[in-house]
Amino acid sequence: MLIRNAEQDVKYVMFTREQIAARCRELGKELTEKFRGETPLMICVLRGAAFFFTDLCREMDCLMDMDFIAASSYFKGTKSTGTVRLVKDSNIDMGKRHVVIVEDIIDSGLTLEYLVKLFATREPKSITTVTLLDKDVNKPDRFRVDYYGFKIPDEFVVGYGLDYADYYRNLPYIGVLKEECYK
Ligand code: PRP
Repeated sequence: MLIRNAEQDVKYVMFTREQIAARCRELGKELTEKFRGETPLMICVLRGAAFFFTDLCREMDCLMDMDFIAASSYFKGTKSTGTVRLVKDSNIDMGKRHVVIVEDIIDSGLTLEYLVKLFATREPKSITTVTLLDKDVNKPDRFRVDYYGFKIPDEFVVGYGLDYADYYRNLPYIGVLKEECYK
């Protein structure tokens, strides 16, 4: 593992902060339409979704309340361990609420599948899933997300909340990490 700094470690920028902001505006408009007259409960899946969540919510023009949960399945690696751990749950009553789960990325789909199954037992009115990045993994039976910002190829991306070994989350753009940093 060779961690230096973003300038040396990022192979190329996949999405600039301007592109991300523009896509957040579009998604915010779509979700505003969807929840017109409703008060969705927006759930941020920490830690990766932190920046996307706050930007997206500010692009939505409706009443809402927010909560933050934390799930983890990568534990410093580049591949899902296959076991999702809920590190922090929500204590807001989801009964009869429109729940919106906001993620930074869907890859194996295990995290969202786990969260949707768990929240469904709490009898919400609906569950909507939103992710900024949807990794094209070519698995037809993978969990299908309702809204996504960008489809991306199978590359290891960091920045705008996404990390490798907890580094790079604070980059304002999304970039592809050089293989030498994690191989
Ligand atoms: C990442 C990401 C998603 C999940 C997606 O979380 O934030 O929650 O993996 O991958 P999947 O579709 O294969 O389940 P991670 O476990 O790295 O925790 P973090 O958000 O704290 O970085």
